[in-house]
Parts: sequence; structure tokens; C-alpha cells
Amino acid sequence: MKRIRNFSIIAHIDHGKSTLADRLLEFTGAVNLGGKMGQILDSMDLEKERGITIKAHAVRLKYKAEDGNEYILNLIDTPGHVDFSYEVSRSLACCEGSLLVVDATQGVEAQTVANAYLAIDHNHEIIPVINKIDLPQADPERVKKQIEDILGIDSSEAILASAKEGIGTKEILEAVVKKIPPPKGDPQAPLRAMIFDSWFDNYLGVIILVRVFDGIIKPGMKIRLMATQKEYEVQRLGILTPFPKDIEQLSAGEVGFIIAGIKNISDTKIGDTVTAVESPAQQPLPGFREVKPMVFCGLYPVETNQYEELKSSLEKLRLNDSSFFFEPETSAALGFGFRCGFLGLLHMEIIKERLEREFNLSLISTAPTVRYKIVDKKGEYLIDNPSKIPKIYERIEEPFMKVSIIVPEEFVGEILKLCQERRGIQKEFSFISKDRILLVYEMPLNEILWDFYDKLKSLSKGYASMDYEFIGYRASDLVKLDILINGEQVDALSVIVHKDKAYYKARAIVQKLRTVIPRQLFEVVIQAAIGSKIIARESIAPLKKNVLAKCYGGDVTRKKKLLEKQKEGKKRMKQIGRVEIPQEAFLSVLKIE
Ligand code: GTP
Repeated sequence: MKRIRNFSIIAHIDHGKSTLADRLLEFTGAVNLGGKMGQILDSMDLEKERGITIKAHAVRLKYKAEDGNEYILNLIDTPGHVDFSYEVSRSLACCEGSLLVVDATQGVEAQTVANAYLAIDHNHEIIPVINKIDLPQADPERVKKQIEDILGIDSSEAILASAKEGIGTKEILEAVVKKIPPPKGDPQAPLRAMIFDSWFDNYLGVIILVRVFDGIIKPGMKIRLMATQKEYEVQRLGILTPFPKDIEQLSAGEVGFIIAGIKNISDTKIGDTVTAVESPAQQPLPGFREVKPMVFCGLYPVETNQYEELKSSLEKLRLNDSSFFFEPETSAALGFGFRCGFLGLLHMEIIKERLEREFNLSLISTAPTVRYKIVDKKGEYLIDNPSKIPKIYERIEEPFMKVSIIVPEEFVGEILKLCQERRGIQKEFSFISKDRILLVYEMPLNEILWDFYDKLKSLSKGYASMDYEFIGYRASDLVKLDILINGEQVDALSVIVHKDKAYYKARAIVQKLRTVIPRQLFEVVIQAAIGSKIIARESIAPLKKNVLAKCYGGDVTRKKKLLEKQKEGKKRMKQIGRVEIPQEAFLSVLKIE
């Protein structure tokens, strides 16, 4: 065990984590990239080798150090986005140290801070790596100072590197060997191994990646997953180099994969403990938590006959992603579809994009919403769809987040205004360097869904970075805003808003809808209502002439183009009563000023 080092790389997005991982793999001879950047750990490309899909979220590297000894280095990858912070924390729990990569031109950003604190919480030995020193704007001294001032991490021995040019790779590997402590653990104790990743392979079923903390695991052993209490027999054990290689055992301190005939990925929960059925561990490893979706939306096929296809695509996606949730839902406006739950906004975007791209589906999605807690005489319960809010209730609670933002001083005024508009409660305002400010706010997740990230980026010309975490439910003065089109309530357009903003939002939504709903042959009236009270109204005058009239006798290609456009647009229309509503309308409620 003393020649094993388990470590991960943490960084803000785009600071060079994948490129550095590639360098480490290349330097230790795990792969030969021929000098090209391959982004091996990043590849979702389900490459096949010996019948196992490679999703190399843990690679075992062999490294002959300057002290003459050969070390086993397990590099455990961490997902790179705020939505997956629980999974990041589980990956970190499996390591004794981490490389903190900071871009020498950008400096410390919001996710650098969030990830570094996670690593500190796990008592990691943290090795700062200042990357991209090949760039002319690189300012490593400034970044070193930030690392000390903001994170309180000693940066006197920070390694200056260029992952792109391979500068500093050897120094990094030496630091991993010298500074990160070897794993502890008792090979004689009852088996305890933590699941930090799992995925589904068509041939082998579920494959789980584990770090063994105590005991030994061998093929043929009966194992129990402690959270789900499911039992299986180990069929194969292996390591990823990054290519899968079978081995005879995994012992305390080691990292590898287990194949045990598991059919259902929801049985293999990230953070759960694997133990042996014979002489099981008394206690699971600490820190297990079930992840719950935070953001919901309705997904409906544009063509009703694609319902079954959508269903089977969702099922396929879920095979590989147990944090994603869906159930059938019907909407008066949109017909048969699914209510889907995601860890966060990015997670939602990823799934939506995969459905459209990989499965070739044309979808209508409703505006994302959070899960509200309703308290009424039935008790306390959660609802994930605004249209399900009961008429009478005692109070509504909504999820609040702690939002950390790092922003250059010149933009701070605008950002403060934005946070205030979004019902943020300021908790911290501090200079982290001469010209950059760390803001911490408590803010309803609902307000973050409404275009917050885009606004943050545009108001700061792209310089602000952000991270958020869930802190709990809080009571708020919320109302349901319904939208009626020609007198018919469109359930899929209902939103929940704060009472103080209801009038303003209602007006903005009906005005927006007026611009996105095409003119029809009759007048279209758009109204917003709270209960039975109409609080805003707009109308669209009927269409008089044919859209193509102006092209008659004119340019034929232009006419063709217009028709093409119409056809495209038509595909995404939904008929509400007699009115055709484009997909854009269902999301437009989010994109209002
Ligand atoms: P995500 O995978 O998006 O989280 O990003 P990452 O942190 O893994 O960064 P990645 O390795 O994808 O690098 C981001 C960009 O920076 C890429 O365009 C790289 O080519 C570039 N890059 C990485 N390291 C260096 C470096 O040392 N110097 C320079 N000039 N560019 C680099």
C-alpha cells in the first residue's frame, strides 16, 4: 500500500484538467498519443476493447519515481460541473490528495473555490498547479497570491505547467508521489468499498468503479450494496489502464471495477458501500446521500406518434444515469409526454440535447421549474409541476441555494443589481484580490432558472463565474400565474412567481407571447391570470394576407426559402384550441427582461 497514490484533478471549467490528464497518461506510458491531444478521460465515445465500454473515470498509472521505486497512481476523474457536486465529493472521498489546476491567465474562479473547499473538507493534500504558462498573458505570481489569499492553500511550491506543451509533467508526478500520503486501510477488516461511478454496458450489465477502503474483494465473492441491500456475485474484477485489464483481487487502498451481473443502474448508488455478504461491515462508509433531482420540465414529442420512441429513449438514457428521473404526464395543451427531473440546468441541457441528437427526436419542452413544498391540511408534500398547485394551501416553500460569484470589480454594480432583482440575500462581499470580488448570496433556485446564468455572463462580458449549492426549503410569498389563450388555460405555460413580481411578469409574458405566436386567421387573445383574476392582456390581430403574397412574381428562391422556414417552424407547433403555438412560446416565459 505504501507505493499507491490515489489522487484527482480539480479545476474550474476550461482550465486544462483533461489536457493535463492526457499528459500524465502519456508521460507514464499508459497511452501513446503521438504528441496529439486526445482528451482521453473526457471521451464519452463508447470505445470498445475486450467487450467493455471504456468510461475511464479512474486510470491506474505506473510511475517510476526519482527515488527508484515504481508507484501505482490512481487518477480519479471528477465531473466538471456544479450540477454534479455530490459526485465530485464522492470521487474526492476516494482519494488522499488532489492537483488543483488553475489557469495562469484566468486565476482562481468560482469552481476553483468550490472544488478546493470540497478537497479541503476531505483532508486532501492539495498540490497547486498553475497551468498554461506558455501563454503570453500568463501571470503565475498573481495566481499564486490568489491561491493563498482566497483559498488559504500554501502556493510556495506550486508547480508551473503547460499541459499543452508538456511543461511540468514530471514535477507534477514527483509531487504526487512525495506529497500525497499513501492510502490507509486494513486488508484484514471486513470489506468496505465505495462506489464512485457506475455505467451500463450492453453486454456486461452495470459496471461499478470502487475504491476499496478495508478488506479484499475477489471474483466469486458474494457482495452486498449497503444502501439498497441488493446482493450479487462478483464475476469479474479489473483495473483501467485506461484499457480494462482483469485482475485477481482488489485490496484496501486500491481502485478498480467490479462486474457482478447487476442489471439495474439505480441499484448502484454513487457513494454507497460494497461489503461482503459473509462477514459484512457493521457500518457503511460515511457520507452517503441519495441525490435528488432539483430541476424539472415537461418533455413532449412534437409528433404524437413519437411518444413510444421518446419513452424508450428516456429509458435508454436512464440506464446510464440514475440521477435522471422521468414519469408519464399528460398536459391538456401538449398531450402525452413526460415529467423529467434533473440535477440542475446543465444536466437538463445535456439530456435534452442527447434526446434530440442521438435519438433524433423532435421535442417540445416546457419551462424548467423547481420542486415546491406545499403545506396544507393534507400535510407537507412536494410538487414538481406548477399546474398541480392546489387552490387552497397554508403556505408554499421553495428551494434556496447558496450562490457564490467571482466577478471583476468593474462589473460588480450590475451583478449586485441582478442578484437583488432575483431576490438574493447578500451574505458576503469581499475582495479576493485587488480587482476581483467574491459575492455570496442566498437565492431561490427558481430565480436562477430564470435566465440568471446568461445574464451574469452577459453583464460581466463573460468574466463572472458562479457556483451554487442547495441549502434548504424556505417559505415564500408565491403565486401561480396562469396563461390563457383565447380563453383556454394552457397548463404547460403556468409558472410560479413571487407575488411582488406577479404583475410585472404577467405583462412581460403576455407581451412576449404576442411576439412569438404567429398571426392566425382570427384574433388571438392572450391573458395572464392569478386564480380567476385577469391581470394582463394582449391580443394579436387576425392575419389578412397570405405570407407569400409579397413574393408573387418575385424571387423564386426566396419564396422557397420562406416555405422551408415555415415547414421547419410548423414542425414545432402545438395546437391549442384553434391556435398554433410554437415551441419557443413554452420557453419564452423564462426569457423575459
Ligand atoms: P472541461 O473538460 O471543459 O472541464 O475543461 P478542462 O478543464 O478539462 O480543460 P481542457 O483540458 O479541455 O482545456 C481547455 C482548453 O485549454 C483547451 O482548448 C486546451 O487546448 C487549452 N489548454 C489546456 N492546457 C493548456 C496549456 O497549458 N496551454 C494552453 N495554451 N492551452 C491549454
